[in-house]
Amino acid sequence: MKGIVLAGGVGSRLYPLTDVVSKQLQPVYDKPMVYYPLTVLIASGIREICLISSPAQLPNFERLLGDGRKWGIEIEYREQSKPEGIAQAFLIADSFIRDHPVALILGDNVFSGGDAFPRAVAAFESGATVFAYHVRNPERYGVVEFDSEFRPVSIVEKPRRPKSNYAVPGVYLYDNQVVEIAKKVQPSERGELEITDIHQTYLARGQLCVERLSRGFAWLDAGTSTSLHEASSYVGTIEKRQGIKIGCPEEAALVRNFLTRAQFDALIEEMPDCEYRSYLKNVAAEMERMGHGAA
Ligand code: DAU
Repeated sequence: MKGIVLAGGVGSRLYPLTDVVSKQLQPVYDKPMVYYPLTVLIASGIREICLISSPAQLPNFERLLGDGRKWGIEIEYREQSKPEGIAQAFLIADSFIRDHPVALILGDNVFSGGDAFPRAVAAFESGATVFAYHVRNPERYGVVEFDSEFRPVSIVEKPRRPKSNYAVPGVYLYDNQVVEIAKKVQPSERGELEITDIHQTYLARGQLCVERLSRGFAWLDAGTSTSLHEASSYVGTIEKRQGIKIGCPEEAALVRNFLTRAQFDALIEEMPDCEYRSYLKNVAAEMERMGHGAA
């Protein structure tokens, strides 16, 4: 499966933070926001990734991430000239997707806990798989309604009267029908190609699987200054308690064997002396103690 990270948009709700630096490059506790969705893809075994952003911000992502080789992955970059909707990602990345299944993840979604995504990617065969997460304020999201057996019945973008508390987070898996479906999506009232329209088509075809994320799982929004601060606090609290980082692509790449231990060590050597580097050294030492990944 290939992966797309959608990291464009204007980030107007975070102004003036986003006047120079895009939302997905803002810090969430100790790393840039885009590290979190990238780590989800890497931890799910996805190595070929296309990052989409605005023409103005794309060079900053390229400077930060390069071609991905340092993490044992390949990153291609594509421009979205205007933020005309999440579903536009499939039109922009058409030649990248070709006939592969693809995961799309939004560059401002922070996830923590569990192995729901790697499991879903490994088990994926066809159709589309999306996730459902219980929230207090579903009207801000795509909302899925279930029948009594938790089969999806409807899926609606930002409904005024939500039929459930289950929001659809910004990580989705599709077979390669997605490009053909995206080509037929019409702009919504807010002038965007809605990702929810794609899910409605899969639902109508009887090919939409909705997996509920369990209680212990965290899905954090980082779209406003308050939620950005809360996401940082959450990550900081868990990291300090556990001594384990959330959203660390180097660690995920080592665990996935995308990097050999020698490549991992060389990567650490290039880093300045800092807490992040010490953490990665400990990761390697701990893996060795546990009998994994000796040099
Ligand atoms: O976060 C999950 C929600 O994301 C879903 O529940 C909704 O179904 C989905 O429509 C989306 O809702 P939002 O209204 O929150 O999406 P937003 O416009 O904030 O865009 C999400 C991210 O995608 C944001 O970081 C900017 C980026 N984006 C968005 C659009 C519309 C782009 O890069 N290009 C775009 O054209």
